[in-house]
Amino acid sequence: MSLNREGRPTRPNPPRDGEGDQPKGGGRAGEAAETGTWTGNRALMLEEPLLFEIGDMETTGVDFDPVPQEVTIGHRAFEHDESFYADRLGGLQRKRPIGLAGLSEPQAVRHYTRLSRQNYAIDLGLFPLGSCTMKHNPRLNEKVARLPGFADVHPLQPADTVQGALEAIHRLGEWLIRLTGMHSVAMSPKAGAHGELCGLLAIRSALEARGDRREVVLVPESAHGTNPATAAFAGYRVENIPANARGRVDLAALKARLGPDVAALMITNPNTCGLFEPDMIAISQAVHAAGGLVYCDGANFNAIVGRVRPGDLGIDAMHINLHKTFSTPHGGGGPGSGPVVFSPALTPFAPLPFVEKQDGNFVLVEEETAGEHHGSSFGRMVAFHGQMGMFTRALAYIMSHGGDGLRQVAEDAVLNANYVLRRLEDVLDAPFGASGPCMHEALFSDKGFAGGLTTLDLAKGLIDEGYHPMTMYFPLVVHGAMLVEPTETESKQGLDQFVGALRSVAERARAGDQSLKAAPVHAPRRRLDETLAARKPVLVYRDPDRAEAAE
Ligand SMILES: Cc1ncc(COP(=O)(O)O)c(C=O)c1O
Repeated sequence: MSLNREGRPTRPNPPRDGEGDQPKGGGRAGEAAETGTWTGNRALMLEEPLLFEIGDMETTGVDFDPVPQEVTIGHRAFEHDESFYADRLGGLQRKRPIGLAGLSEPQAVRHYTRLSRQNYAIDLGLFPLGSCTMKHNPRLNEKVARLPGFADVHPLQPADTVQGALEAIHRLGEWLIRLTGMHSVAMSPKAGAHGELCGLLAIRSALEARGDRREVVLVPESAHGTNPATAAFAGYRVENIPANARGRVDLAALKARLGPDVAALMITNPNTCGLFEPDMIAISQAVHAAGGLVYCDGANFNAIVGRVRPGDLGIDAMHINLHKTFSTPHGGGGPGSGPVVFSPALTPFAPLPFVEKQDGNFVLVEEETAGEHHGSSFGRMVAFHGQMGMFTRALAYIMSHGGDGLRQVAEDAVLNANYVLRRLEDVLDAPFGASGPCMHEALFSDKGFAGGLTTLDLAKGLIDEGYHPMTMYFPLVVHGAMLVEPTETESKQGLDQFVGALRSVAERARAGDQSLKAAPVHAPRRRLDETLAARKPVLVYRDPDRAEAAE
């Protein structure tokens, strides 16, 4: 056995005492019984335990130099003794071993590679999550985002050393203003929901500037869930406006509720039923006539970009999810960015900083430099200017598509969603299918499922077919909702295969096929207790021996 300088064994993966006949390679006894293989692996689908279960505390995969007896900092040399660290760490130095498993490099690399193979990804296949658009992210965007002039700049660098980066932000802002037909843009919000908060803060400032303290924000039932959450977070009382039988805002109910206490309407358009609000102009006029302002959740802009300019619909503020409309992985796949576009009425209240072109140079307008016309800004949303990596990806996406390409993105997204809707509506109930074409996502319900089968059972069956499930039980206006967003990047061949898989599971659900209750049967794990996982997540590894001793 070889030892490192500290006397710890360096041999990778030493067998533990008495474990010679146990499954290796991470197999677990229960899993092994289920798969019928000695390892618990299913051919190339490999079982993977936790790092702590692979390695142990006695072995090490890295060999550090011993701590030098003398440390030089600047021009001063310090003797190494405990007091040197104790002073510098203020008494917070570690007193016990940290308890991390020692692994060799191949063990660590294999661990993460094996885990990554159990993850579903947009680069593996169609990812039908509605509302959380998962579309192909062109690799060109990634290349541009990694250019050192964008990726390595520091937010505190002097502006004259980052002119290119500031120009990129400015150009992207100009595109967003042009595409939405609005008057100004705040680039700094870092997600869709953050953009919602930004819009509401601007609305509140505008109302307060005219001495108007209003307390209520109206939110249609077909709005995204973040809308009421944001309004409540901003201190407003939230009231619902019902949807009509066609899945749109009930205009009469809205008009009946409008009054002097209503600060704003927060409307998602296209809405979470995947439908366009055709009464949008009438809705905006009614809100304005009652002295309120209109906030539009524009996260679904990918369905209308290049076709509709929200500025023409009477909207006062709208966020855009760059990480939906202009590619970039959504959700857990990466950071977000939610720029907000404003009408002329809200522009003076927009947050700082923003990029402006002055005498041929790009400058970040801050509190000290904001001119008179920006003097009413409500403040700032973030410390610096926003998500540079997202800006460069979005700008690369926009410039590589051009105006006509973006219009085609929206048209293809809508075409694909309608293809899925029409190909499936004979086996899946489409609650608003009769009211015309959908936008970028197709909505189904569990009506017609037999034998007590539910949307969850269908979703689990889809996992066995090799697909990530669609968005489930959202929007709430539809029972057992299933929201499918194929996106514009899927080919007809890809859509046909997905439709075939979904049809087959839907037919089983309609026939009351109880075997669906056991799905997924081919996935690395069967059904998990999702409630327990959400309510009592186990996020810390405890050595079973020590945990027992503690009890
Ligand atoms: C319609 C809609 N609004 C708001 C959001 C919230 O965006 P974020 O997750 O970036 O906060 C989403 C997220 O996808 C959305 O689909």
